[in-house]
Amino acid sequence: MIDVEKIRKDFPMITNNPELIYFDNAATSLKPQVVIDAVNDFYTHHTSNIHRGDYDIAMTNDSLYFNVRKKVAKLINCKCEEVVFTHSASESLNMIAYGLSKSFLKTGDQILTTKAEHASTIMPFLHLQRENQINVVFAELDREANLSIESFKKALNKNVKVVVLSEVSNVLGSTQPIKEIVSLAHENGALVVIDGAQSVPHMKVNVKDLDCDFLAFSSHKMCGPDGVGVLYGKYELLNSMEPMMYGGDMNIMFDIDGSYQLQEVPRKFEVGTPNIEGVIGLGAAIDYLMDIGMDEISKYEKQLREHFLDRLSRLESVIIFNPNNLNGPIAFNVKGVFSLDTAGYLADHHIAVRSGNHCARTLKYVIGTNSTVRASLYFYNTRDEIDRFVEVVKQVSIESATGLFF
Ligand code: ALA
Repeated sequence: MIDVEKIRKDFPMITNNPELIYFDNAATSLKPQVVIDAVNDFYTHHTSNIHRGDYDIAMTNDSLYFNVRKKVAKLINCKCEEVVFTHSASESLNMIAYGLSKSFLKTGDQILTTKAEHASTIMPFLHLQRENQINVVFAELDREANLSIESFKKALNKNVKVVVLSEVSNVLGSTQPIKEIVSLAHENGALVVIDGAQSVPHMKVNVKDLDCDFLAFSSHKMCGPDGVGVLYGKYELLNSMEPMMYGGDMNIMFDIDGSYQLQEVPRKFEVGTPNIEGVIGLGAAIDYLMDIGMDEISKYEKQLREHFLDRLSRLESVIIFNPNNLNGPIAFNVKGVFSLDTAGYLADHHIAVRSGNHCARTLKYVIGTNSTVRASLYFYNTRDEIDRFVEVVKQVSIESATGLFF
């Protein structure tokens, strides 16, 4: 069971900001001291590059970096060599789109996705549409952006070669039936790319079980440092895929005649000096999360979310866009108040949320607005914070109705 009061003491951002209610976890998570220490330790005790130095510190860092690959592999249940470190989930998704465009996609092929996707999930493929004459097509969603199997089947056809979608939506928390989607897509001869940015930090994600072909996620949303992403790909696919970038550390040799030879997967995708301290910090974050337990985290967050919905839905002044979803953020508006103004009012009361379209610019076709307030929770949030939050939201409507708001 989650001991939230104990957990909160691990986060300096919480202990140093006693008034802060941080409900912007879908944008980024807070960091526990163990992660900060791991990064700090790299800078203060064992700084070096990796894969190049023949001295002790460099070799220690080689193995620390490699060990994080093992930790990621354990977290998502894949082989070590199927874990590529990138600089963000966005970069991972771009690398996948680029690689597929070079080795797999042909003119006239379709990419099947949804209108609830984050820019980083869909834009690399919209770019391909422009450049390579493939077509991006959309499966129909319900009002809370859930994709049913019936709807997916309807959208699937023999031209669909890649399915790309988020496991959990970054605005509505809609959680898609990935396993069934993968199975149907594979029967159809299509590959499946999953954006796990909002699922991997919050629940157990098992790529073997899902059988997805690619998965992208980022460190900073799961208690790790910024500037580190993960690209998981099935070994054979990574092996046949072209890297998007060329240069140091990813080559074995090159010469003036233009010949070159690349490193084996995954290193052929890791060009230049990586974010070594960030990767080491991600390792500390994975240890921290796995120590608590991903199942415990998702169970606690579900209870927290239920409490949130129960309290917020009692306010008549509030429209909630995803009252039936079970995971992820809660998106709402106070009737008659622009989302940015609500967020500003909350900020004045030390509450951090995000407002606007949340980088999911086509979600407006599903929910009928491109501007909502998004509250996103993590396992260090509490019921008490939710109750305090709801009191402030109540105030937004009273003050806007009485003209005191602006
Ligand atoms: N992808 C992040 C969000 O949804 C930044 O806010």
